[in-house]
Amino acid sequence: MHSQPPSLSPCLLNGFKDLTLAGVQEAKPPGLFLTTPPVRPLDNLSSPAHLAALVRHRRRDIPPKMSAFFEERVLSVHHWTDTLFSFICTRDPAFRFKSGQFTMIGLLVDGKPLLRAYSMVSGHWDETLEFLSIKVQDGPLTSRLQHIEVGDTVLIGRKPVGTLLTESLLPGRNLYMLGTGTGLAPFMSLIRDPETYEPFERVVLVHGCRTVGELVYEDLIKDELPHHELLGELVQEKLIYYPTVTREAYARQGRVTDLIFNGKLPTDLGLPQIDKALDRIMLCGSPGLLTDYGAWLKANDWAEGTNTHRGQYVIEKAFVER
Ligand code: A2P
Repeated sequence: MHSQPPSLSPCLLNGFKDLTLAGVQEAKPPGLFLTTPPVRPLDNLSSPAHLAALVRHRRRDIPPKMSAFFEERVLSVHHWTDTLFSFICTRDPAFRFKSGQFTMIGLLVDGKPLLRAYSMVSGHWDETLEFLSIKVQDGPLTSRLQHIEVGDTVLIGRKPVGTLLTESLLPGRNLYMLGTGTGLAPFMSLIRDPETYEPFERVVLVHGCRTVGELVYEDLIKDELPHHELLGELVQEKLIYYPTVTREAYARQGRVTDLIFNGKLPTDLGLPQIDKALDRIMLCGSPGLLTDYGAWLKANDWAEGTNTHRGQYVIEKAFVER
């Protein structure tokens, strides 16, 4: 289908085994998780297989042990294309994360944990965890992970981290979430968090892919979220979805960066041109996108947000810095 396999996304971060977590602050438990009653997961957990696996997991008599990982059970697997799949697994109530973060996940291979960094797709309030992955046929982890089945065990790292946090951004007019490929994953979590919308008039989710088939979660974003019992109103009022494809015919075409530089993206949406004094950016995607657009933002004096100083943009750059 492709002339070359999709490149590794920094928000999937497969091939990212040398990630150094030292120096990255451990996330504090998000308040909403503690105070908001869990809502029904958006993902379909109603099939007998899913429910049976969930019940089996809940009834397991797991002896308490402190390891760096939670052992979770796969509840469902969805193959989007021959290069992309996602899965849902059980979630230990002790695993808390902020929308936009990632953690190390993987499998036991020959008795040893084999892990890569994956952003959480699910909402931080969700009872289950969801992850999106590419399939690399000779990839140490994804060559195996792509074959997981309901009931299998996956390892989930206990320490979520990441820079794509709304709390690192100054409040603003429009928040642009720019994601390519599996770089969409952390934004899926962010758009399911009511707090994401609060500081902004509009949240513009831009997903750039090579092919139409790679526009994963399109139905969920377009059809399900606007009707969600808790999020629906906010989503209808503030979320704008802009999918764009680069290597096939589609309603919207072109690279995310080109569409911003030539002004087509805001014009298509009837929004004013992007202005660093007013608008905010979150960036997650292919290394080329991060390098090119990250350099442009820096060269044009956009202030990068950190966990101590709010800024005008944040970028998930663990991959480019490794
Ligand atoms: P293109 O098809 O023109 O390379 P990938 O699958 O390689 O991760 O790419 C996902 C999307 O990101 C594709 O649409 C790809 O466009 C686009 N992309 C790749 N590199 C860049 C870049 N440097 N700037 C903007 N978009 C990019």
